[in-house]
Amino acid sequence: MPLIIAVDGPAASGKGTIAARLARTYGLPHLDTGLLYRAVGVKLLEAGGSLDDEAAATEAARGLDAADVSEDPRLTTGEAGEAASRVAGHPGVRAALLDLQQAFAAQSGGAVLDGRDIGTVIAPGAPAKLFVTAAPETRADRRWKQLTARGFDIAFDDMLADIQRRDERDAGRGAAPMVQAEDAVLLDTTDMGIEAAFDAARRIVEAARAKHGL
Ligand code: CDP
Ligand code: CDP
Repeated sequence: MPLIIAVDGPAASGKGTIAARLARTYGLPHLDTGLLYRAVGVKLLEAGGSLDDEAAATEAARGLDAADVSEDPRLTTGEAGEAASRVAGHPGVRAALLDLQQAFAAQSGGAVLDGRDIGTVIAPGAPAKLFVTAAPETRADRRWKQLTARGFDIAFDDMLADIQRRDERDAGRGAAPMVQAEDAVLLDTTDMGIEAAFDAARRIVEAARAKHGL
């Protein structure tokens, strides 16, 4: 069985940083699946479309591949995150992005994917599953620091409201809602710096490797 590591959790929980470091540690390819939804949202907005238009959003999702979504700064803004979360509620968009994510997960040497539904929908058979979380205030503080360091002018209270609204939308939607998989290990990083969070994540993966003989 290949080492597939599924890392899910809410915004700014640290799942992306943890996933990238796990990928480096184990020499595995990494896909940040949130970037796919961000790319769909941004593509739609730039074409003057409506985020509520499922047919147009699905069309935008069909043309994407994993290589399109690496280092584009337009994808990391708060607006892109909000747009992503709105198009991510359309079942057509999720269906259009399913094959490329599952193909990425099925690489023979294993893979690391982070998102909301990796352990539940994309790779339910993954031997290592983490659900990374932290208190909303902590996550808002992390994201606020990240965005202000990049020159965005945003009030902390607005950041917190954005994160809470996105949490509710992502957990409340009918299509692949954000939920901890039954066999995922919960990692609450509220009181952890990134080093401690990564160490804890690595221990969870080591336990999964031992359990599955990987
Ligand atoms: O980095 P952050 O957690 O803020 O967001 P992201 O992972 O880039 O995801 C942006 C949005 O895409 C989320 O709020 C979800 O609505 C959606 N998403 C999803 O529905 N399923 C995934 N596997 C990944 C992201
Ligand atoms: O991918 P996700 O949106 O879950 O979060 P991220 O982009 O990995 O992390 C958001 C920010 O929080 C980054 O600047 C991380 O370095 C920081 N972070 C932290 O300070 N402490 C942690 N335990 C985890 C992340």
